[in-house]
This record gives sequence, structure tokens and C-alpha cells, in this order.
Amino acid sequence: MSLRTDFIVIGSGIAGLRASIELAQNGAEVAVLTKSRASDSNTEWAQGGVAVVLSDDDTAELHEDDTLVAGAGLCDEKAVEVLVNEGTRYIKQLIEWGTEFDQEGGKLVFTREAAHSRRRILHAHGDSTGKEIVRALIARARQEPAINLSAFANTESLIVENGRCIGVRFLDPILKAPREIYANAVVMCAGGAGQLYQHSTNPPGATGDGMAMAFFAGAELADMEFVQFHPTALNIAEAPRFLLSEAMRGEGAILRNAHGKRFMTDYDERLELAPRDIVSRSIVAEMRKTGTRTVFLDITEKSEGFLKERFPKIYETCKYYGLNISSDLLPVSPASHYTMGGVRTDLWGRTSIEGLYAAGEVTCTGVHGANRLASNSLLEGLVFGARSGAAALKDSKSFDPGDLSGKAVEARGDETSPTRDEAVFKRVKRVMWERVGITRDEESLRHALSEFEHITSANLSRRARNFVTLANLVTRAALWRKESRGGHFRSDYPDRDKAWRMHSVQREGKAISKSKSVGGF
Ligand code: SIN
Repeated sequence: MSLRTDFIVIGSGIAGLRASIELAQNGAEVAVLTKSRASDSNTEWAQGGVAVVLSDDDTAELHEDDTLVAGAGLCDEKAVEVLVNEGTRYIKQLIEWGTEFDQEGGKLVFTREAAHSRRRILHAHGDSTGKEIVRALIARARQEPAINLSAFANTESLIVENGRCIGVRFLDPILKAPREIYANAVVMCAGGAGQLYQHSTNPPGATGDGMAMAFFAGAELADMEFVQFHPTALNIAEAPRFLLSEAMRGEGAILRNAHGKRFMTDYDERLELAPRDIVSRSIVAEMRKTGTRTVFLDITEKSEGFLKERFPKIYETCKYYGLNISSDLLPVSPASHYTMGGVRTDLWGRTSIEGLYAAGEVTCTGVHGANRLASNSLLEGLVFGARSGAAALKDSKSFDPGDLSGKAVEARGDETSPTRDEAVFKRVKRVMWERVGITRDEESLRHALSEFEHITSANLSRRARNFVTLANLVTRAALWRKESRGGHFRSDYPDRDKAWRMHSVQREGKAISKSKSVGGF
């Protein structure tokens, strides 16, 4: 039997929770579907913090300028204006809802991260900012009886009828069978695709399913070539690439090569606080020069007491691996961290499909351009989560749901076979890392495309097909863009070229098209 609700929200990170609250506090019934535990999301893993204009020496104009510079000429200015101007209000609301950002003497403490001209990053419990925000949002969502949150409810595909998204097919965790649920609109907040790469700071669930589902339903995806690599993931054999927050460099940590030399002095006058793409490429160059697989993060200038309090999670995790951050050099290397590209939306989270809205890392709003400014992503999820909820509600006032029914967009692929899926994931991740990574060129990208073609020729499960499709979309866009900009570096076209100041737009069955802005459909 199919189900019916007012709105469906896919995902329970900051964007999904904020969208759900917006809908429910305006009287709508909301079904939130999340593929694992409610608190399992990229948001939960966010360490560094959230950028916001709240300190006395800061202004929205300065935050906007920093975002535009980091975005390397490709941000949609209107989207950035919305982010920085509305961000402050939404963060204040988050504080009213019980989020405990770190304070000193009753005042909020701001830290600094790369490419910010001011100390404007709020953090919580030192380096557990995302966890604290999710805690507060879940507590707030629990006060809304109209929000029904289903954990371990994996969405398989969207239901689109006469060009409108009217529901989803999901795996019912209780019945252990696929089921349809219909609604006036669907808000997609399923997170990013950092797991496309062999080395990633992201949780295992960041496989980009939402982007793939939207793509197969006919939505446009933009700027898929832009992937951000975080420079400092802990690199210990066999251990996951645990993030060593940029806030450590904000507090004075420096990078040293295998010979102990501080090397950022050779690459950029902003040193360790240069934009992430520059620091990541400098690290790769230095590892090549010294024939090693890591460089080292050094924060030994700071006292153990300070570090224990400021970075408790990092302190404990490193200790688990036998490292004392106040006395040891920490082996690090870059890892994929954030997907700037995603489902194309306007300023209100509207996608190219009527009835389908999106917010958070799954989207491309134009806020991040070619390279996201550190700590802007939680703010984006919050602001655009709220806006997409508001727009879904407003737009569907004139929608007559009648007798909603329809057929789910056929999920591509066979039944899941965990062992075969794992083999496909492993191969795709390796190809992405080696051929479509921090540095790309025509030869490496063509090689990757032919590998993906080979993989796709086999019978694949839905999960595996989604994954290869996304890898293919990133690679195609990276091949299309014949310049280097932000997170996309082509060694065969190493310079930025103003003729490429445009966005890539991809849609199923169509060649890549270009667009002057993300939001201007
Ligand atoms: C970090 O803590 O370094 C990550 C923050 C971010 O990616 O915005």
C-alpha cells in the first residue's frame, strides 16, 4: 500500500532538518527519510565550524568578498549575497534553539580558516561543531509532531508524473520491501559525493545517491568538475582519512616536508592559509619532490592544555593512533572533501523539475563557485534548507494533489550484490583518485572514461550504477573544461581562462551545455 504525506525530505543533515522544521512549523506534515541513523550525515562530521558575520570587526561585504575570491570567478553573486546576508539571522535562530557555540567570558569565540580576511568561524565543543548543530536541530525537530523521521529508509528513486515530482520509492525499514510515498513536493537534501574517491574525509554514506536519483529523474546537474580536496587528512596506513581541521592551521599549525622544512613559503604568500586547492597542490608537489606519501602538520608550538581544549576530538583520535599532537609531527595528505557541483537550483532550492527542491551539498546553488570557502557549507545548508522548505510550501499552495499516483522512475540496475558492489566501488574510487583527482589532463580523463564504460557494460546494481554514473559526470565535465580554476586543475591547461567563466550543465542523454549562471534556468 502506498503512503501519502504533505512533503517528503530526503536526508537528515543540516539542510534536511532545517527544511523539515520550516515546513512543519508552517502547518505541513513532513516525512523525513534518511538512509542510516538520523544523526549520520556529513554535517555530523563537520569539525571546523560555521562561518558567519557576527563579530564587531566583520561585515557581510567582507564575507561576500572572501567567498567570491575563493570561488575563483564562478560564484553566482546573488546566491552569495543571500548566504552572507541571511546567514546571520539563521545562526542567531540556531543559538535560540539551543546550539551551544564555544564562548569565552560570555562572548562567542571566532576562529580563522584559510582565505577568510576575518576571524568569523564559530565552533562548538572545540572541533565537534556539526555534531552540536545536529543535536540542536534534532531536538528542535522533535518539538514538531508533524515531522515523521524514518531512519534506515533508503530512497531508491523519485516518482515523476507529467513532469512533476510527486513522491519517492524507498525501502521500508520495517517491511524490508520497496514502498511508494506521495507528496505535494520532495526536498532533496541527501548530501555530497566525497566517497567517489579512494581517499576521502567524508562518512561512508557520502556516495552522491541524491545527485544520481535527480539526474535519472531528468534534473540538471551543474559544475560537477569542481571537487574540493582538503589538504590535511591524517595519513596512517590502513586507517580512515580522519580530518585534521583547517582550524589547526588557523591557530598557527604549519606544514613541513619529509626533511622537516616548512614549504608553503615556496608556494604562496598566504602560506598555510592559502585557499585549499593551492595548499593541496603544493603538498602533492612537495611529496613528489621528496618521494614520499605524506607531509607533516606541526602544531607543537601550542601547549598540550590549549590543544586538548581547543581540539578535543582531534587530540583523542591522534592519541588512539599513538600521536600526541602537542609533541609529534602529524602525517597528512590531501583527501576529497566536498563536491561543489550538484543538482542545479535557483535561489529558493527549485530544481529544473517541478515539485523537486534541493538544498545542501547535494546541490549546486552557485554559492561556492569553483572552490568553496572554508566553513561556508554548514551556513549554506542552513540558509538554503530553510528557503527550499519555504518555497516548496508556497509553490504547492496552488497545486491540486487530487489522486496522487504514478510510477517511480525506474531504478537503474539489478538487485544489490554486496560483494560485487564493493568491487565496483573500489575500482571506481581508485580510477577517480588516480585519473580525476587533484591534477587531471586529457589523457588521464579519457582513460578514466574508458574504464567507466567498461565497468558499465556489466550488470550493475542500482547503487553501483548510481556511483559509476556520478564518476562519469565528474570526469566528462573535467574533460570539457579546458582551463584550470578553483578545485579543477588541468596540467595541460594550467591557467585560468576568462572564456571559461561559465558553468557546465549536464542532463541525461544530452551533451554538456554551458550557462552564465547556476540559478538562471
Ligand atoms: C575543516 O574543519 O577543516 C573543515 C571545514 C570545512 O570544510 O568547511
